Amino acid sequence: MTRQTPYISPSMLASDFANLAAEGRRASAADWLHVDVMDNHFVPNLTLGAPVVEALAKAVDTPLDCHLMIEDPDRWAPAYVEAGAGSVTFHVEAASAPVRLAREVRAKDARAGMALRPATPIEPYEDLLTELDMVLLMTVEPGFGGQKFLDLCLPKIRTARQLIQKHGGETWLQVDGGVSLETIERCAEAGADVFVAGSAVYSADDPDKMVAELRATAQAAAG
Ligand code: DX5
Ligand code: ZN
Repeated sequence: MTRQTPYISPSMLASDFANLAAEGRRASAADWLHVDVMDNHFVPNLTLGAPVVEALAKAVDTPLDCHLMIEDPDRWAPAYVEAGAGSVTFHVEAASAPVRLAREVRAKDARAGMALRPATPIEPYEDLLTELDMVLLMTVEPGFGGQKFLDLCLPKIRTARQLIQKHGGETWLQVDGGVSLETIERCAEAGADVFVAGSAVYSADDPDKMVAELRATAQAAAG
């Protein structure tokens, strides 16, 4: 990938599940495609698993950014790397051994991400940052697309950015939930550099154009 951050990662949760490959290609300007994996236990919703990720990875050129909203990611996350995901993000609330898991994902040559629900603080995980390629801060409660962005998450985005800078600045900072042309500016100003957008991209007439607009807005706000 030659482009620098900000990166836009459209969430396929808002796309037509009967046509995933074509929907991925409708957003080919995207840097990543965000695939939400839900198990009906960690969150009250069920989506798709590793076989679908494997099929999609073969069908699109854009790398897949898998967001695992599942119990026991220690057991299941490696299968998503093997299925072809370029980035695999597990929830810290569900992982038993996040450092071991991040190392396992990296050892299999994928980027390792760790996600936090809105009520989970970042400070206890400062020492893990160098083990991670990305931190995902949820800006809605995970489980469903189309929810309203939670402004109460903005201070945590700022804190996470400061901690990341303190530890070398290599870790990407992703926000997910309610990100749109209206809210992306606030997220970018606070220090996020990877933006998941589901309904904003897939409810647009031209998803590719929306990706470009979101990226330009984030870039301008980041300064
Ligand atoms: C929610 C998912 C998100 C969701 C975002 O639990 O993790 O990725 O698809 O959708 P929007 O952008 O519509 O809030
Ligand atoms: Zn997600």
